[in-house]
Amino acid sequence: MKTIDDLQVAGQRVFVRADLNVPLDGTTITDDGRIRAVAPTIAKLAERGAKVIVASHLGRPKGAPDPAFSLGPAAQRLGELLGQSVAFATDTVGESAAAVTAGLADGQVAVLENLRFNPGETSKDDAERGAFADRLAALADLYVGDGFGAVHRKHASVYDLPQRLPHAAGDLIATEVGVLKKLTEDVKRPYVVVLGGAKVSDKLAVIDELLGKADRLLIGGGMAYTFLKAKGYEVGISLLQEDQIPVVTEYMERAEKNGVELVLPVDVLASTDFPDLKTKAPATFDTLDADKIPSDKEGLDIGPKTRELYASKLADAATVFWNGPLGVFEHPDYAGGTRAIAQALVDSDAFTVVGGGDSAAAVRLLGFDEKAFGHISTGGGASLEYLEGKTLPGLAALED
Ligand code: 3PG
Repeated sequence: MKTIDDLQVAGQRVFVRADLNVPLDGTTITDDGRIRAVAPTIAKLAERGAKVIVASHLGRPKGAPDPAFSLGPAAQRLGELLGQSVAFATDTVGESAAAVTAGLADGQVAVLENLRFNPGETSKDDAERGAFADRLAALADLYVGDGFGAVHRKHASVYDLPQRLPHAAGDLIATEVGVLKKLTEDVKRPYVVVLGGAKVSDKLAVIDELLGKADRLLIGGGMAYTFLKAKGYEVGISLLQEDQIPVVTEYMERAEKNGVELVLPVDVLASTDFPDLKTKAPATFDTLDADKIPSDKEGLDIGPKTRELYASKLADAATVFWNGPLGVFEHPDYAGGTRAIAQALVDSDAFTVVGGGDSAAAVRLLGFDEKAFGHISTGGGASLEYLEGKTLPGLAALED
């Protein structure tokens, strides 16, 4: 894989596929981690005299312009981080994009509007995607792939466009891949993986793979209740994917056979009501053993005994990968489990990797210093699919 140092970029129009898919509250960015992560690549290209055209998706608009998903706020934040003004095209391959990119001087930066405002970006039809990629290719001379969070998507700007232009990986992708290699090739042991998040179905493939790789798997978040139910416990009205019980049961058996320690919550914070995440009004909950959840309550965080147990299971780790919050961390009363795991990683001497998405946002939202972790990935789904051993379209397209 070539890097940007292999490209002659001075005076060239360089298309940078970034992942500026940041969480927004209206037009306010609530976590700018992904913009900060890609800014150094953009700054480096601009310093070397490129005309930089940055493009990304944001959210999941339905193939047509939708102001709620505009990249305007992200473009503005990028300008602040770069310390230079950033031009903004109000479309992707239309008149605005043509005018804005044609007006770039060497060292200047422009951001295009959300790529997913065009149906060609995410189309399953190769010809439709290809046609959009052709139009994007007309805007640039070179392609830099640096949207790690989207490399698992076979989308026009991720997969088809690099096949049409001389290309290289940006510094963010190079770093992310370097870190994930440490988790897949010759990993330092004990290798402990913490998996949380709402849905067990999102994590099945990675658990399947990790049952042959990790030494310990600590399970939390909404997905834990399907495991607890599979163990024969009542889980009340907790999140449950009943149809996954047979798969989860097989995983528990395989873990035992392979000598992988699969650890489940021993206690939980449970309530009759889901907390109000807007007002964050104080919640009413009980701390209960994991086999004592009554029929009218749902588990919303791991309890104090589990936090202590998981911290002890992390204490001797040499490598840790963590993906997914352990509870409803957006509410202060249910953030304790996620905070305890983050703290255990901070206290550990292990090489610690926080998988992107919610866990990365949680770490920052809870006020932890990012530098206290080995690496905070910008890719949630992308890092999981890498660990699953899948070929990621956006990385494959950068290979040749
Ligand atoms: C993410 O948030 O994981 C990436 O930006 C990819 O977004 P997507 O799941 O909407 O493709």
